[in-house]
Amino acid sequence: MPALRILSPRALPTALASFLAAILRHTAQQQGRTSFALAGGTTPQTTYAALAGPPLRAIVPWHVIDVFFGDERAVPPDHPHSNYHMAMKALIEPLGLPAGQVHRMHADDADLAAAARAYEAILPDRLDLLLLGIGDDGHTASLFPGSPARSEQGRRVVPARAPRPPFDRLTITPPVIAAAHHVVVLAAGAGKADAVRRALADDADPVLVPAALARHGTWFLDTAAAAGLGAIP
Ligand code: 6PG
Repeated sequence: MPALRILSPRALPTALASFLAAILRHTAQQQGRTSFALAGGTTPQTTYAALAGPPLRAIVPWHVIDVFFGDERAVPPDHPHSNYHMAMKALIEPLGLPAGQVHRMHADDADLAAAARAYEAILPDRLDLLLLGIGDDGHTASLFPGSPARSEQGRRVVPARAPRPPFDRLTITPPVIAAAHHVVVLAAGAGKADAVRRALADDADPVLVPAALARHGTWFLDTAAAAGLGAIP
């Protein structure tokens, strides 16, 4: 059973940010640098803002944190649907992280296959910390139910197709999730309750519910997203 942290909607962002800050700090103290792959979408925005503000800002040695992305949409980096754009506004710009520490997925390149190979070349073999979200259909990163990317075991970054726009994406693959030292999943809102329930079910099939690939991680849920879990054993 995964580690669950179930909190009120109000408490969730700061609690998650504190958890992430502690991992980033400890890992940096242990090994000198830390790789941190960000989730996209909209839910993490408040968590990123808490990380970039006092008091957590001062806890993390940001000068040795290398930021990566779990997936990206095929849009320009200043597009409102860009995961990079969201992270820039919520976390990276407020922290003033140097460009050399922020590794954008170039999903807006014309040749997505080449962009995937280029990102794979800079992505650490094992991420220290991977933050993932979950879609209401059970996807995570841009690994969608039944998609070829969901079953990829050789490559670590591949082009992917989403069922909703922006359709073209780049995404990490299941081996990257499996290899990460710390996997943390964030879900908030009643719309995610069924996907969370299916992903954490004992018989969860990661082909049908790709977020089940992260069931070994620590799941930060608000009470609405956890509503489908019933009585917590
Ligand atoms: C993306 C994300 C994706 C996201 C979920 C949840 O590019 O869409 O990486 O995996 O985490 O779709 O998104 P929300 O937080 O917006 O609900």
